[in-house]
Amino acid sequence: MSGAKVISVMNWKGGVGKTTMTHHLGTGLHMLTKEERLEYLGSEKMPRILFVDNDAQCNLSISCLHVEKYEDLVYKQNIPTIYDLYKLFICNESPVVDMHNYIIKNQVRMDNRRIFMGMDLLPAHQELVYLDMNIAMNSRASFQSGLISKEIYKYQYLNDILEPVCSDYDYIFIDCPPNLGYTTLNALYASEYCLIPTGLDHLSSYGIASLLKEIDRLNTEFATAVPDHPMIEVVGIVANNVEENREAPKRSQKLIRERLQDSYHELMFEPYLTRGDGIPNASEQGYPVYADRSANALKQGDLLLGILREFLDRI
Ligand SMILES: Nc1ncnc2c1ncn2[C@@H]1O[C@H](COP(=O)(O)OP(=O)(O)O)[C@@H](O)[C@H]1O
Ligand SMILES: [Mg+2]
Repeated sequence: MSGAKVISVMNWKGGVGKTTMTHHLGTGLHMLTKEERLEYLGSEKMPRILFVDNDAQCNLSISCLHVEKYEDLVYKQNIPTIYDLYKLFICNESPVVDMHNYIIKNQVRMDNRRIFMGMDLLPAHQELVYLDMNIAMNSRASFQSGLISKEIYKYQYLNDILEPVCSDYDYIFIDCPPNLGYTTLNALYASEYCLIPTGLDHLSSYGIASLLKEIDRLNTEFATAVPDHPMIEVVGIVANNVEENREAPKRSQKLIRERLQDSYHELMFEPYLTRGDGIPNASEQGYPVYADRSANALKQGDLLLGILREFLDRI
């Protein structure tokens, strides 16, 4: 795909901050100063951003719009969602689609009064939970089941959905469900980059080695099936829910962070996000933590912008 930089935020573990990170990296791009935009983005212009909610939990849609507005649009007004797009692409090999009917434009909330201009959302629907099963059951006659390379179309739906709007945006952020099913693999196929948030606890850090191995394997499989398919680059691993003692991670988390740094070296982001009330409070209001002025919100906002700057340095 040409145009936007496409980034999947993924981890097969839930509750590690995928949605939080997606929401705050995207909205954070509009919190940078003019000078920072020039330095990190190469232009003073506000970047155009598309959020893609690729998770049946719909948390990114809710975070962007506020729960009431989301429910009104998707479950009362029945506007179409990413799930309708997937279904169209599963049932037709090259459907004619007007993406303007699916993308919610300029409705992402900055705070209680303002919205971000130039920030759009492709919302999710809870029925997205059936997508993996739909994809698995829908085999094209011309393909035999078995190897990924023979069933590569099962991984290409989201790529095909986003292709026509790619040049309308500078960044497309895809929020993923906590698994490695077809829904997530569609996001990875469509992405140049992936970012992995993690907790600094034993079980969260345990899964990262196998996750990275799986991304390597997918890169090989995708390249075998589609030789000019760009490799998915792991931008890095970001620690979240860090608890501090005197401005540094508490001892048990510090040890796990050091272990991750020993294993994954420069893949580990230097900045991390602390656990605190700022994020859940803001999320309940349906806006990013940058909008609140409590001490914790200010701290988490600063940390998130630090993570964003490192992210931009890396892509
Ligand atoms: N640093 C943090 N401090 C406090 N709460 C957080 C933090 N990061 C995420 N949360 C909260 O934890 C829950 C899970 O985070 P979320 O981003 O939805 O994870 P995931 O998308 O990986 O399942 C959400 O309620 C979110 O608001
Ligand atoms: Mg999530």
